[in-house]
Amino acid sequence: MAEPTLPSLNNLTLSDTITEAEFSQRVLIRSILCRSDSGAGLAGQTIKVGGWVKKGREQGKGTFAFLELNDGSCPSNLQLIIYADVAPLGQVVPTGTCLHVEGVLQMPPEDKQGKQSIELKVVKVLEVGSVDPAKYPLPKTRLTLEFLRDYVHLRPRTNTISAIARIRNALAYATHTFFQKHGFLYVHTPIITTSDCEGAGEMFQVTTLINEAEKLEKELVKNPPPSQEDVDLARSVVKEKGEIVAKLKSDKAGKPEITAAVAELTKAKENLSKVEERFKLKPGIPKKDGKVDYGQDFFARQAFLTVSGQLQVETFACALSSVYTFGPTFRAENSHTSRHLAEFWMVEPEIAFADIEDDMKCAEAYVRFLCQWLLDNCLDDMEFMVEKFDKKAIERLKMVASTNFVRLSYTEAVTILEEAVSKGHKFENKVEWGIDLASEHEKYLTETKFESPVIVYNYPKGIKAFYMKVNPDKKTVAAMDVLVPKVGELIGGSQREENYEVIKERILEMGLPLEPYEWYLDLRRYGTVKHSGFGLGFERMILFATGIDNIRDVIPFPRYPGRADL
Ligand code: 4AD
Ligand code: MG
Repeated sequence: MAEPTLPSLNNLTLSDTITEAEFSQRVLIRSILCRSDSGAGLAGQTIKVGGWVKKGREQGKGTFAFLELNDGSCPSNLQLIIYADVAPLGQVVPTGTCLHVEGVLQMPPEDKQGKQSIELKVVKVLEVGSVDPAKYPLPKTRLTLEFLRDYVHLRPRTNTISAIARIRNALAYATHTFFQKHGFLYVHTPIITTSDCEGAGEMFQVTTLINEAEKLEKELVKNPPPSQEDVDLARSVVKEKGEIVAKLKSDKAGKPEITAAVAELTKAKENLSKVEERFKLKPGIPKKDGKVDYGQDFFARQAFLTVSGQLQVETFACALSSVYTFGPTFRAENSHTSRHLAEFWMVEPEIAFADIEDDMKCAEAYVRFLCQWLLDNCLDDMEFMVEKFDKKAIERLKMVASTNFVRLSYTEAVTILEEAVSKGHKFENKVEWGIDLASEHEKYLTETKFESPVIVYNYPKGIKAFYMKVNPDKKTVAAMDVLVPKVGELIGGSQREENYEVIKERILEMGLPLEPYEWYLDLRRYGTVKHSGFGLGFERMILFATGIDNIRDVIPFPRYPGRADL
């Protein structure tokens, strides 16, 4: 299949013509500056641009100003020159000001050419979104990424966050391109689920019981519930009205009279049922047999935010063969590390008729494709990352795109780590067969020992999830983790256990209830198939690519213990 030709924010293979932004009254600054001649050949053209002022300075004793304008289409700014007779300069120079202007592209005077090969002489200001520089929280001084986390709504205007946004966008596009190119079908798996995929009990609960209880409490304060006497009174009214109807009937009274009495009785009965209903209302969470009564919850059962779309995507793999899901996942682990989020995005392919070997091949091809994609489509943003954050970022992408990943069994990995210990290398966590590899161990393998991505496979079954295929040695499972320099674990995957009896045993062995997994067992009961898949942590991939240190800075709206802004 040919490479896609859709316009992408990151695609640098631009034609040397100026590009109108679609559905927007301006041209893309990228199409002016990211040309083979850096825009020089466009002098004389009249255009409109829109963007935000990065830096502005008045010159010539206040007769004109230079402004650097950025519209997010590329890391570079377009230089504007604006004279005092076109707009009040004090209003347009503050950092953060939004400008929509019309002007003529011109070569800067030779003595002023410096970095700019083209500038826009503004002839008309169409719109201004002004800024009070005394109050704007992001003045032009360099701000730390940590500081910017307090302004998640404004931080996309910074060079760093916008470069990361373009890289993130490119990686998402590359992901769909890779899987579509290889015949995978994109499946949307649910965000609200009633199964715990990893069985690790790290799920956020989805419930309306708490807000319902709060609403009720408030309502009962406003309209106190009826007392027992109120109920008795309503009951006696019904009795009384019933007796009247009975008497009228036995007295053979006239039809209109009986009808009127029956209507009164009906009203009394309705009132009684309302009073009884409200009498039963109890403040607080509904309970049954001393436990929360989830039967009264929104879904009439306990529900959660998904930790992984894997189990559900398996249902489609067991019918459509090669599929993937790409969506947000949620984990309520109380970790404050620079590699964990409470809400993160995961790419999860699932392949039928595939074993662990095929799975590793797919994971490696996908990661290498992503790296090459950034080199081909995002070089200007990557150069920015190299300049500001990580000298090795581009080198690392090139290395990964062109290197076969090292493959090691878990047992071999432990032997290597033990050798390191015997040679005096200090780890905080003990190394012995059976441990879950800690981040320091993963880093040692991928950064110190091999200086390359490493795939570790065949982990002890005791430390892995119930759905992984048990190997013939009965001690290990066909699991694989892709470890990369800088982040450690990037991908976790496995061949799935397709044998009904074995997987049932595994669920029980792990102390999980069978009932919620009956539908999953059906996939093995009926037309079972050998299949494998993996999950790539999308933000971990961005950390790896950009060299940014903290995962909270590579997702637009980070969620972690104590924080969920916006
Ligand atoms: O290794 P994990 O837990 O695997 C699964 O969830 C499988 N069900 C995937 C599958 O086979 N379809 O998670 C997969 C990846 C990890 O390797 C890591 O990169 C990322 O998801 N990840 C996190 N990223 C950010 N914050 C967290 N709290 C993460 N937990 C896992
Ligand atoms: Mg894992």
